[in-house]
Amino acid sequence: MLTPAQLANWHHDGFLVLPGFKSTDEVAAACRRAHEIVAAFEPGAHGSGRPCAFSTRDRSKLADAALLASAEEVHCFFEEEALDEAGRLCVPKEVSVNKIGHALHERDPVFETFSHGPSLAALAADLGLAQPQVWQSQLIFKQPKIGGEVGWHQDASFFVTTPQTVTTFWFALEDATLDNGCLWVMPAGHRGQNSVLREQYVCERPADGAPPRLVMRKLDTTPWPTMAQARPLPVAAGTLVVFPGLLPHYSPPNRSARSRLAYTLHVTDGSAAYAAENWLQRGTHLPVRGLR
Ligand code: FE2
Repeated sequence: MLTPAQLANWHHDGFLVLPGFKSTDEVAAACRRAHEIVAAFEPGAHGSGRPCAFSTRDRSKLADAALLASAEEVHCFFEEEALDEAGRLCVPKEVSVNKIGHALHERDPVFETFSHGPSLAALAADLGLAQPQVWQSQLIFKQPKIGGEVGWHQDASFFVTTPQTVTTFWFALEDATLDNGCLWVMPAGHRGQNSVLREQYVCERPADGAPPRLVMRKLDTTPWPTMAQARPLPVAAGTLVVFPGLLPHYSPPNRSARSRLAYTLHVTDGSAAYAAENWLQRGTHLPVRGLR
C-alpha cells in the first residue's frame, strides 16, 4: 500500500500524512455517532457522581477510577474550563466534552467498523506491525474556544512495550488547522537522542488492596522540542496521520470558533512484551485484538 517514497519518509521524518484515508461517508458516520454518544451520556453517571475533567497539564486531577474503568468502556471526559470550582458542568455538555475513550473500537459498532478493515491492516503491516494489537481508541474534541492544549509528549509513555512498538493512528474527522489546534510534531524526533522516552505513565497497584494510583514518572531530562523545532500538520477531514510512539508531538489550545474532532487508535505489536505497569490492561473477557 505505501510507496517506497512514503516508507522512506516514515523512517526519516517519523510520521506520515495520508489524505483521504477515510471517505467522506465514513467520516460523516463517525462524526454523527460521536455526537450521538455525547447526547446520550449522563454526566456524573460514573465514579464520584461528578463529571470528570481531563487535563494533560495536571494529571492529579484525573479521577483515576473513572479512567481505569474507561479502559473497557465508552466514557466521556470534560474540558477543565467546562467545570466550575465545585466540579459542576458550567457549559452545555455538547460543547464541553474533551474526549471519549477508551474502548470505542470494541464497544461501539460504528467505531468498531471504523477501526478495523483491510486498509488499516495493510498499512500496519507496511509499518512493520506484524501482530497489531489495538489497545485504545479515543475521540478528541478540541472544542471551540475552550479546547485545551495537549502539551509535548510521546504516546509510548502510555503504552510501553519491549522493544518499543506503539504506533498512533490519528484520524482527522474535521479539518485540523493552525487556528483550531492541529497536531504539531518534531520531525525526526523518533530517532537519535530526541527519541529517548522522557516519561512513563504507570499504574501502581498496591499489594495491600488499596486502590490503584496512576502516576507519571520522569525517566529522562531530555528537553521537549522548542516550537522552532516543531512542524504543524494542518490536514483535511478524512486524513490519517500515523506516527511512532517515540515521536514528540503537541497540540495548542483551540481559541477559534470551530471544533477539531479527531479519532485515534494506539496499536502495539503482539510480538513485543507489553509492560505490566501500563495503565491499560485487558483480561480474558475482553482480549486485545488486531485490525482485521
Ligand atoms: Fe499523543
